[in-house]
Amino acid sequence: MKTYQIAVIPGDGIGPEVMREAVKVLNAVSALDGGFNFEFTEYPWGCEYYLKTGEMMPEDGLERLKGSDAILLGAVGYPGVPDHISLRGLLLKLRRGFDQYVNLRPVKLLEGAPCPLKDVKPGEIDMVFVRENSEGEYSGQGAWLYPDSPQEVVIQDAVFSRKGCERVIRYAYELARREGKTLTSIIKANALNYSMVFWDQVFEEVGREYPDVETQSLLVDAAAMFMIKNPKRFQVVVTSNLFGDILTDLGAAISGGMGLAAGANLDPERRYPSMFEPIHGSAPKHAGKGDANPLASIWAAGQLLDHLGYPDWYGKIVDTVERMLKEKQGLTKDLGGSASTSECGDVFVKLLG
Ligand code: IPM
Ligand code: MN
Repeated sequence: MKTYQIAVIPGDGIGPEVMREAVKVLNAVSALDGGFNFEFTEYPWGCEYYLKTGEMMPEDGLERLKGSDAILLGAVGYPGVPDHISLRGLLLKLRRGFDQYVNLRPVKLLEGAPCPLKDVKPGEIDMVFVRENSEGEYSGQGAWLYPDSPQEVVIQDAVFSRKGCERVIRYAYELARREGKTLTSIIKANALNYSMVFWDQVFEEVGREYPDVETQSLLVDAAAMFMIKNPKRFQVVVTSNLFGDILTDLGAAISGGMGLAAGANLDPERRYPSMFEPIHGSAPKHAGKGDANPLASIWAAGQLLDHLGYPDWYGKIVDTVERMLKEKQGLTKDLGGSASTSECGDVFVKLLG
């Protein structure tokens, strides 16, 4: 029997509540499968930890997580700690520290999921975003000059390295090839004359090795419009860190809402553990109410299973989410139901078995 070491960082707000259900589901999967199980180690890092210690996680935090097979993350951020401190001190530190350079975010409209678009059927929104996750607009580099003076100047640098662009673009080409899908690169080279002209060039260069993959390049503003007007146009999408952040919230909005949106932070080379999380935040207003939707976290746990080599379990998890939506079983308030977070997890486990 294979035992996987999973680090669990429940984090802030509704994070711990939804994480509990993801863990419940992983335990149910291992019991049903019989071929593997999980050992979970919980790390109490986050904003509360910060208020006690002055740090979002201990200095040797990465070292302590390094040996795990994967990381499950709830959510980070809470009033009382500025967002740029909490996020840079934990979420972004893990993504960067473990070189999880691919942020893989499915945008798939399941049957029964609410969709604000007219005349769009399930199956017509089925994309996967490959968001650059290690540099770009999130490099954290820049300067703040002459603070609090009329001369004040702020510079926020975006960093696009050849290595950084090539590897994420190559990952996207490989995915498109493997799945026989089209690949769309989304960028803004008409206005960003260094970084994104360079990205376009790398996209074309790498593309020469993939003549079988059909591609299109779109400017981000046009892409936002087409995601609403003609979402069928997108299959595999590759884009920069910030554009991927924005467009995947848009993607969530057209495919059932943030309560269903999952993301995987991957180190495809498997030098470090990859990290799986719902892409919604800590939703402080809902914390402690027990009404948060755990399905995004459960979907992310499915991505974890896929990453560990169990794609069939990933498929079963997405199918079970779809069944709950179709049969309106065990849904939380955001999806028109009245189940609590833990009831939703219980119904999920029942249907899975
Ligand atoms: C996300 C989040 C983060 C991001 C924030 C919380 C820093 O919005 O995972 O999409 O921008 O990457
Ligand atoms: Mn986001």
